[in-house]
This record gives sequence, C-alpha cells and structure tokens, in this order.
Amino acid sequence: MQRLRRLRKSSAFRELVAETAVKKRGLILPVFVCEGKDIREPVPSMPGVFRYSVDRLEEIAEGVRRSGIGGVMLFGVPDHKDETGSGAYADDGVVQRALRFLRGYLKRTGSEFLLIADICLCEYTSHGHCGILCGGEVDNDKSLPYHAAAALSCVKAGADMVAPSSMMDGAVAAIRALLDENGYENTPIMGYSAKFASAFYGPFRDAADSAPQSGNRKGYQMDYRNGREALREAETDMEEGADIVMVKPGLAYLDVLSRVAEISDRPVAVYNVSGEYSMVKAAAQAGWIDERAIVIEEMTAFFRAGADIVITYHALDYVKWTEGKQ
Ligand code: PBG
Repeated sequence: MQRLRRLRKSSAFRELVAETAVKKRGLILPVFVCEGKDIREPVPSMPGVFRYSVDRLEEIAEGVRRSGIGGVMLFGVPDHKDETGSGAYADDGVVQRALRFLRGYLKRTGSEFLLIADICLCEYTSHGHCGILCGGEVDNDKSLPYHAAAALSCVKAGADMVAPSSMMDGAVAAIRALLDENGYENTPIMGYSAKFASAFYGPFRDAADSAPQSGNRKGYQMDYRNGREALREAETDMEEGADIVMVKPGLAYLDVLSRVAEISDRPVAVYNVSGEYSMVKAAAQAGWIDERAIVIEEMTAFFRAGADIVITYHALDYVKWTEGKQ
C-alpha cells in the first residue's frame, strides 16, 4: 500500500512538506476613491469595503502600511461623466489627486507600498463602456489614445505601475509607447490580459458606478468558454510589452491561471473579484461558512495555481487573521 498519510500525521510533518505559501507582499488591495470631502461610504454590496474621498485616504494608507501587503490598486468614482471619459485623463481627476496624496503619504512615512492605477474609461463615461462609442459600438483604435493619456496622467501623478483593464486590442502597446515618449520607460505595465466577461463583477459595478447603460461587455471582454484564447491574450500582451500578465476573475478561472502561469516568462497576477468577495461575505454573515478559513484557503489556492500576485479585497483581513495584527 502507498501510505500517503505518513506525512500528514502531525502538524510538524505537514509544515515540513507544505508546497505553497501565501506571499504577503504579493497581495494588492483595490481601493475606491470618490469626490467630496470627509467621505467613507460603505459599498452596500461589498460589506467591509468603502469609498473614500481623497482627504480620508490616510486611514486606508495606514492600514496598508501596517499590514505589509504589496500595495493598492486605485479605482476612481468621479461625479462627472461624459462621452469620452475625460475624468480618466484629467490632471485633477479623482485618481490623480489620490495618487498625489498617497505619494506624499509614502514620502512622509518612509514607507514603500506600491501605487497601481487601474486604467479604464468605464467609470468615467456617461455610457459606462470601457472605450469610445462609435455608432453604438466600442471603437477599439479610437479608444487607444484615451487609454494611453489616462496612463500617462496617472504616472505623472505618482503611479508606480499602470494596469489597463479595458481589453482593447493594442492597449498595452499604445500605453508603452506614450510612457516611453515621455521619459517613463521604467514604469511597468500590468496587463489585464485574460479578462473574462463575467457576472462576478456585479458588486464592483455598484461600487464604481460603472455598469454599461446599454448592452454588455461581451464585445471586448473574453468569452468564458475559452481557455486557449486566454493564452493568446497573454502572449499578445507580452509581445506588446506587458511586464506582468493577469487573469480575471480568479476562482472560476484557476485552470486558466495555471495554464497562463505555465507559458508566461513574466510574473502572473490574478484578480479575486468583487462577486467572489461578496459571496464569501454573505455566506459568512449568514453563519454558513468560516470566513477566515475560507479566505486563507482561497489565497493559498491562487498561489498554488501559479499566481505571483493576488489582487483581493480580503488583503487586510488576510493579514489580520494570519498575523493577529491591526
Ligand atoms: C474596469 C474594471 C472592472 C473590474 C476591474 N476593472 C469592471 C468591469 O470590467 O466591469 C472588476 C473588478 C471586480 O469585480 O472586483 N473595466
């Protein structure tokens, strides 16, 4: 008989042979930044998640600094929306102001977590689509300069890295070219390379007020029946110069994550999205699951499947539960 239980019989043996560890510095917390003053508004569909006005960001920055996670990824919730999403590339846009504030915070406190800017138009367009509309369709090539401009303005405002999430073809190349032209050749790009059209984004669209006013995103985000195409998306982003590739969502796509991690010669990120978060929260609130154990198991699964970076709303809780801090 093969006695596989020999190495499971005590915690000392289990620790000895454990293959996977969650890397705290690889965890990234998404943060929603809104207009206004003195705002810390709960997102109803995401218990424990808030929208912060720029002047209240200090408290989330403190939490991130004390936790020792890798950084934050910023999403803007602007008051003003228009056809071309001008808030996304305005120098005084809400994310740009948040970046300047956080850059100052890092300097003042001598800390060094990373500031990552999500680059997309959907939170800023009146129609809620991720690019520029032309005759009711999202026009790929017309959208690219707007994405590049958004990336440049975020980098100027202090972003360490930009992450284009619109699934426009050529977005990574367009951003790379404009950053290089402006002397930012050392700023990395994390592509949302294999981002699927997913119902798991529902709570995020509440949080960021970014649901499309008509239609859906299936004309640009990936069809979840396709795995091979995800590899092609990752390869294309790498050819265009992505420094990091991403798979999104996470849990229902661990097979895709694992396949991308196998072919990628660059770090791989996974986005544990809003719907995944809210499902855990809802079941925990009902008393049906052990939230702490579930979150630790999920985080471990992402790293086991091949992720180097996990973007997750659970990041601070994970640290609190595993280190008993905060
Ligand atoms: C913007 C964007 C979305 C998410 C990240 N960036 C929403 C979408 O594509 O509809 C989803 C994140 C989440 O659900 O947590 N394009």
